[in-house]
Amino acid sequence: MKLLSTAKFLIALLSSANALIPLEIKGNRFIKPAVDAKEAGEVFFIMGVDYQPGGSSDYSSSSNSDVLSDADACYRDAYVLQELGANTVRIYTVNPDVNHDKCMSILNDAGIYVMLDVNSPLGGESLNRADPASTYNSYYLSRVFKVIEAFKNYPNVIGFFSGNEIINDDASAKEDPRYIRALQRDMKQYIAAHADRSIPVGYSAANELDYRGATWQYLQCNIDGDEDDESKSDFFGLNTYEWCSGQSDWASSGYGTLNNTFQDSAIPLLFSEYGCIAVTPRTFDEVTEGLYSGLINTFSGGLVYEYSKESNNYGLVDIDSDGDLQFYTDYDNLKSQFEDVSLPSISEDDVADAEIIKCNAKTVKSYFSSFGANFTLPDQPSEIKDLIKNGVNATNVGKLVDVSEKYGGYEIELASGGDVATESAIATFSGYNTYNSQTGVTLSGTKASSSAAKSTATTSSSSSSSSSKAEGASAGGSAKSTGIMFALSLLLTSLL
Ligand SMILES: *[C@@H]1O[C@H](CO)[C@@H](O)[C@H](O)[C@H]1NC(C)=O
Ligand SMILES: *[C@@H]1O[C@H](CO)[C@@H](O)[C@H](O)[C@H]1NC(C)=O
Ligand SMILES: *[C@@H]1O[C@H](CO)[C@@H](O)[C@H](O)[C@H]1NC(C)=O
Repeated sequence: MKLLSTAKFLIALLSSANALIPLEIKGNRFIKPAVDAKEAGEVFFIMGVDYQPGGSSDYSSSSNSDVLSDADACYRDAYVLQELGANTVRIYTVNPDVNHDKCMSILNDAGIYVMLDVNSPLGGESLNRADPASTYNSYYLSRVFKVIEAFKNYPNVIGFFSGNEIINDDASAKEDPRYIRALQRDMKQYIAAHADRSIPVGYSAANELDYRGATWQYLQCNIDGDEDDESKSDFFGLNTYEWCSGQSDWASSGYGTLNNTFQDSAIPLLFSEYGCIAVTPRTFDEVTEGLYSGLINTFSGGLVYEYSKESNNYGLVDIDSDGDLQFYTDYDNLKSQFEDVSLPSISEDDVADAEIIKCNAKTVKSYFSSFGANFTLPDQPSEIKDLIKNGVNATNVGKLVDVSEKYGGYEIELASGGDVATESAIATFSGYNTYNSQTGVTLSGTKASSSAAKSTATTSSSSSSSSSKAEGASAGGSAKSTGIMFALSLLLTSLL
């Protein structure tokens, strides 16, 4: 009797959970799966910031540190991000050889998702836009694969960006598109061979009017209509600074054009950067008057550029050399904009499955006639094939670890002056973020059963094909209930 009522209580507790990871993709939406496998998931909107304290150029492969290696800083920032109302960060540069377990676990437990670029500013660690063939090789791809290894087991990773603004002039628009698809092909083959779930891969585009529509059409389609095409993007980000605080509105910002251009997207769209600084402090009117209102049917939210102030003078907060942090008025303004957003609640069931758009060079060129709309991708060099087959010798495969709520130890100063009291500057951890009934990934990094994890991966990849819907749903259902039973038995064990 006692056992039964405890179990009922736990089920009630579990179904009231509001944070569940990892996200999946269905059609043109990110989906947050429901805890209870019998219930449909919900459309997830990204309310995020770009996060690279120190700036991308601060990165050095020999420094043994990166933005996710200092747990105290991550405690500080998890609080600051939660306080802001953010649910996602995008990180541009990481060192695949350092340990990110604590920071990723802190973000995970605080309910914050991560989108991650696989590149670095160092030579040979990204595609060279002026000569992509010279960098499409195993030296570059082994860095990319090491980043995947380092992050593949964190359930709060939404996806990887294959590149950022690689296409930014006529020459790169002609030469680079095939290489971006080749890189995405290799990344997705690596993920399929070495990760337990199908982590999405997408691209972050410059908002150049000439190229943006062509780039999106080129990347979202399936070559020869093949539904298993690995080279397509799973999502598409746009870096747009079209709306400047106090100057722009829906009409003058070009958001209406954006809404028209992208309305039939087959894949999720987001602003991977936004937040023009022509007028400061920024009031971020585009949040409530644009991105999360007029664009809400077309885009899935976005990421404000950027968290900390660096040499280019964006930044919601200032972090000094001691790690003490101060909010700018921009931070307060964005926070109140986020508070005023009312997101629609959309059931997974109401999201259409992705249509397969067969790649067509004419369609792409209708946006920009000199775009390199060639769908014959560069061959995969045999060294890259070998890396995918055998895996890179990753010494650093991340996993969630046990972390507890804690003050970061840095001073946090309000924009209006005065400090946040130490005992208040602590992020709230939800127990529901610490295990995952979809993959069965738990705090200890163990899994419910590998078959459960694998069939979940099938669900998310099959969700992009209309034909296998029923099959995918039932496979996902059993994986989910296995996960819940596992979580339940874990909790029961710990109680009894
Ligand atoms: C944006 O496009 C969607 C179609 O995707 C449409 O439903 C909506 O009305 C448009 N918004 C505005 C403000 O024009
Ligand atoms: C596409 O690129 C391939 C490889 O470089 C080349 O052989 C082919 O002619 C190109 N196709 C078109 C339509 O330009
Ligand atoms: C991995 O390590 C082994 C043993 O150190 C070595 O023989 C092998 O060549 C390495 N493979 C790669 C892809 O670096």
